[in-house]
Amino acid sequence: MERSRNSFQQALAQALPGQEIGLDRPRSGELGDFAFPCFRAAKALGLNPQALARDLAAKIVIPGAELAAAGPYLNLKLQPAVRARVLLEALLGTVPFGSAPAHGETVLVEYSSPNIAKLFTIGHLRSTMIGHSLAQVNRYLGCSVTRLNHLGDWGTQFGTLLAAYKAWAEQDNPELEQDFPWADEVPEKLRTPLYRLFQLYVRFHAAEESDPSLHDEAKAWFVRLEQGDPEATRLWSWFRQISIREFLRIYQRLGVAFDTLDQGEAFYQDMLQPTLDLLQHSGLLKEGDGGAMIIDLEDVGIQTPSLVQKADGSSIYATRDIAAALFRRDTWHFDRCVYVVGADQILHFKQLFAVMEKLDPWYRGRMLHTPFGMVSLPEGKMSTRKGNVIFLEDVLDEAVVRVRAIIEEKNPELADKAAVAEMLGMGAVVFFNALNDRVKPITFTWDRVIALDGDTGPYVQYAHARILSVLRKAGGDWANRARPGAAADSAVVPFAAAPLPDSMEGLEDAPAQTLLFELAGLPEAYRTMQRENMGTAVARQLLTIAKAFSGFYTNCPILWPENSQAVRDSRLALCLATARALRQGLHILGVQAPEAM
Ligand code: ARG
Repeated sequence: MERSRNSFQQALAQALPGQEIGLDRPRSGELGDFAFPCFRAAKALGLNPQALARDLAAKIVIPGAELAAAGPYLNLKLQPAVRARVLLEALLGTVPFGSAPAHGETVLVEYSSPNIAKLFTIGHLRSTMIGHSLAQVNRYLGCSVTRLNHLGDWGTQFGTLLAAYKAWAEQDNPELEQDFPWADEVPEKLRTPLYRLFQLYVRFHAAEESDPSLHDEAKAWFVRLEQGDPEATRLWSWFRQISIREFLRIYQRLGVAFDTLDQGEAFYQDMLQPTLDLLQHSGLLKEGDGGAMIIDLEDVGIQTPSLVQKADGSSIYATRDIAAALFRRDTWHFDRCVYVVGADQILHFKQLFAVMEKLDPWYRGRMLHTPFGMVSLPEGKMSTRKGNVIFLEDVLDEAVVRVRAIIEEKNPELADKAAVAEMLGMGAVVFFNALNDRVKPITFTWDRVIALDGDTGPYVQYAHARILSVLRKAGGDWANRARPGAAADSAVVPFAAAPLPDSMEGLEDAPAQTLLFELAGLPEAYRTMQRENMGTAVARQLLTIAKAFSGFYTNCPILWPENSQAVRDSRLALCLATARALRQGLHILGVQAPEAM
C-alpha cells in the first residue's frame, strides 16, 4: 500500500514541482484508494481546482491504477486485483499491519491512579482503559512507552481514614475482617477489608457534617503521618497493602498492566523539601494567605495561583506532582508525558504545566493532559464521600450476566461459556468507553453502557468469531493461521506470516473491494488515535470493517462447492486477513476476541 502511495506522491511531485503533496483517503473505495485535493496547488498556480484535477488525470500514468478527477479531487483507484494483492501482502506479512518500527520516542503514559482505600467505580474505568489503550497504540507505533500509575497513597484523606479506624474499628474489628454492625447489609462479594475501609471513610464524612471537630482530628492524624509517627505509618502501609491487592485483581481482570506500581504520591514524599527549595531558589515561591506558599501564574494567564504548601506546613497534591514531573524528567528524559485524568482536574494540570515551564523551558510541549468526561448518574454526580457510586465490578459482572443469558438462549452448546461471556461482557463495557468521545461526559445507564447490539464491542467480536467458524469449516491450516502465538505483554498480537493466494480471482467483486478498502483505513485510524489520544477512530474503523465483512460474507460465497480453488483460496485469505486485523485492533483497545460465540 505504501508503495502505491509513494508512486502517486512522486508522480504528483513531478507534475507540480514545488507544491506540497498531501494525500487523503476518499470517502469510499468506489472512488479510489488515495485522493489528492487540488485546492492548495490550484490556488498557488492560479488555476481552477476542477480543471487542475482533470488535467492531472489526463497526464499522470501509474501502472495498475486508474486516475480520475472527481470535482476538485484527483483520485487514484487501484485495479481490483492490485488492491487485493497489496493489502493481503501487508495484512498477512511479518510486519504487524499499520504498526511502525521503533523510532526512539519516549512516551510516559500515566493512568488509572486510583486513591487508596476506595473502590474502583465506573469512573475509574475511563482513566484505566483510555490510558491502557493509549499505551498500546503508542507502543504499536514504535514509541518506547513506560506505563505509570500515580497511586493516590498520600494526602489528607489518610488522616480521615486513620481517625475513622481509630474511632470505629480498632476496638472491635481491628483486622477489618468482620462486617460492621452499623453498616447496611453488605453483599457477599463486597465482604473485603477494602470495602470496610471504604465504609469507614463514608461514615466519617457523614459524621463530620454534624460534628466539625472530627475534621481537626483527621487533620491531626495526617500531620502525625507526615511526621513519620510509627503508628500512623504502620496503619497507612497496611491500608495501602489492602488496596493494592484489590487493585491488582481488577487490573488482571481488565488485562491492564503497569511498568511500575510503587511510584504513587507517597513515593515523592522525600523529594518534597528539595522541590520546595528548588522553587524557592528559582524565585517562584510567594507567601499567600496565612503563611501558605503559592506560585503566581497570572503572567501566563492563569488567575488561580498554584498552592504548594499549606499554612500548617502539610504537603499537597500539587507539590507531589511537581516532584513527580522532575523525577520523570531526570529518569526518562521523555518526549511526551501523557496524564490520563478526568476533566475535573483541568485547572490542576494547567497550573502544573505552567509551573514546570517556569522551572525549566525543557517541559514546553512535552506535558499533556488528556481529560475525559466524568461519568454521572441520571440523578447527579457520583461521590465516593456520599457513597452514591456505581462500582466497576458491578458493571462488569452485570454485563457478563446479561451476555451469559443470551448465550444460554441462543447457543447453549457453546464450549467455555463462562470464559466467552467474560470476554463479551467486558468487551461491551470497554469498547463503549473507547468508542465514545473521550471528552464528553457520560450519563450512566445500564442499558447504554452494557448494550450488546448495535455499534458495540460484541458486534466486532461476533464478526471475528464468525470468520473463525468459516476458517474452521475450511479445514487445513486455515483456523490455525488465525491463532496468535504465545501472548506476551505487548501491543502486537503475534501472528506468523501466512502464505498469499496464487491469484486474486474472487476478490474483484464490489463487497470484497469494500472490505479491502476499509481494512486499508486501519493504519490511519491508529495514527489518529495516537494524535487525538482517544480510541474513537480505531473503534469506529473496527465497526466499519465488521460491517463490510458482513457484506462480503453475504454476497461472496466462500466455501461454496462450485467455487474454483482459486476463488475459495483468495476469499479465505481475505477472511484470515480480516480476522487478524480485527483481533489486533481490539487488542489495542483492551478487548479480547473469542474464537467462537
Ligand atoms: N488520584 C487522583 C484521583 O483519583 C488522580 C491522580 C492523577 N494523576 C496525577 N499525576 N495527579 O483523583
